[in-house]
Amino acid sequence: TRAWRGLIEEYRDRLPVSTTTPVVTLLEGGTPLLPARRVSALTGCDVHLKVEGANPTGSFKDRGMTMAISKAVEEGAKAVICASTGNTSASAAAYAVRAGLTCAVLVPRGKIAMGKLAQALVHGARLLQVEGSFDDCLEMTRKLSENYPIALVNSVNPYRLQGQKTAAFEIVDALGDAPDVHCIPVGNAGNISAYWMGYREYESDGTATRAPRMFGFQASGAAPIVGGAPVTHPQTIATAIRIGNPASWGLAEAARDESGGDIQAVTDRQIAAAYKLLAQEEGVFVELASAASVAGLLQAREQGALPSGLRVVCTVTGNGLKDPDWAISGAPSPVTIPIDAHAAAVALELA
Ligand code: F0G
Repeated sequence: TRAWRGLIEEYRDRLPVSTTTPVVTLLEGGTPLLPARRVSALTGCDVHLKVEGANPTGSFKDRGMTMAISKAVEEGAKAVICASTGNTSASAAAYAVRAGLTCAVLVPRGKIAMGKLAQALVHGARLLQVEGSFDDCLEMTRKLSENYPIALVNSVNPYRLQGQKTAAFEIVDALGDAPDVHCIPVGNAGNISAYWMGYREYESDGTATRAPRMFGFQASGAAPIVGGAPVTHPQTIATAIRIGNPASWGLAEAARDESGGDIQAVTDRQIAAAYKLLAQEEGVFVELASAASVAGLLQAREQGALPSGLRVVCTVTGNGLKDPDWAISGAPSPVTIPIDAHAAAVALELA
């Protein structure tokens, strides 16, 4: 075995790069595909977690960003811009540093998790907090990239989805074929579209014998695709997917329909329960939005929408450390003791 080279080198012949494309990488991809014993037992399925929080900046966004930033450099860009609920901005900021580009990010004020804000700032991005929603931010960045010399690196940039499709390749490479079902959170709807692209590509050239049914999950207070209309004031504790008018809406519906899957809503309560289950029963610390995939699988099984015995992959999209505020608010307060082993023994109920 040899060291992982980052996803552009690993999947070069399946990506729109040439020998002269400057590869900007933090060695993203190659993330764990972890058997989930507890979720498998609860669902009667063979469930694996694709742990995308193990990427360099802690989310799946790095897969898209290595491509978007490499192509931006190839095309002569000096600056990049994105709208973000936090993870895209963290990733763009880091890859921009790597490439020597300046990076501007627009985020909805007060609606992004602390860790993500910290990442954008520490990597030196120009961060503007907009008094509006993610959807407002995205519209602004589209206008700015049209009118000024600054490249847009949101997932409306087609190179982003090209990079993100490699997660599907890794899953098939690890399992030997595609799973029966793939569960994934849906926000701006780029990632579900990218996975579907990857699965279809492997199926059409015979690397896989089939493609999975794609099951996407939106938060119930931010579920425009489920409801069939944009949501003006999306609300959810899962701030990463607090999006009312997804850019890749049509692509996500195509993934759903072509694969024989579904896009459903899960409540904040279900998301919080799945978050806790992953942390306390699987040892996997994800952020709230990521838990929507597992919440959705549990719901689909409870509703009888899926039979038992299936092989299922749930993408958990981001690292739990992104949102320490939520993690701490739900946990018991730590006990304080003096420098005294006996006091520790008492507190631990050992003595
Ligand atoms: N999970 C996490 C942790 C995310 O950050 C996002 C999107 C999603 C799921 C949904 O993926 O948008 O491709 O459907 N975050 C974007 C951002 C919007 O700005 O970081 P999607």
